[in-house]
Amino acid sequence: LFDASKSREQLLADICAKLKEEVYHYDWVGFYLLDENANELVLGPYVGKPTEHTHIPVGKGVCGQVAESGESKVVQDVSTENNYIACSIDVQSEIVVPVMKNGKFVAEIDIDSHSAGPFTDEDEQFLGAICKMVAEQF
Ligand code: SME
Repeated sequence: LFDASKSREQLLADICAKLKEEVYHYDWVGFYLLDENANELVLGPYVGKPTEHTHIPVGKGVCGQVAESGESKVVQDVSTENNYIACSIDVQSEIVVPVMKNGKFVAEIDIDSHSAGPFTDEDEQFLGAICKMVAEQF
């Protein structure tokens, strides 16, 4: 999976595919990358239904909040989140984990679930470990 000869795009795409395939409650898995000049997130590799939210301003939605704080965010019930950008009516919950490079936010992994409240500390730790490895690509 972490073959150093692969391009970053390919690596991120492989991670998305693997995660969606292996974890039942992961229904949409994608990476958003920070465009520092535009102060917005740009959608990178993903698997799941296409989304129209390919550009998200920092601070907006769950994704934008994580870009601002550099902290993971778990939303077990998206109907309770005020600062939320809906991608699909099927989505019930979401987890976003940042990719930090030298203490700076560079990207994030975003996972949507059609299950209610499926995420545990295990998801957060596991995804954190993946993001740590991904950081080496930035
Ligand atoms: N729900 C996200 C937007 C991205 S879609 O889930 C792919 C948010 O609130 O930031």
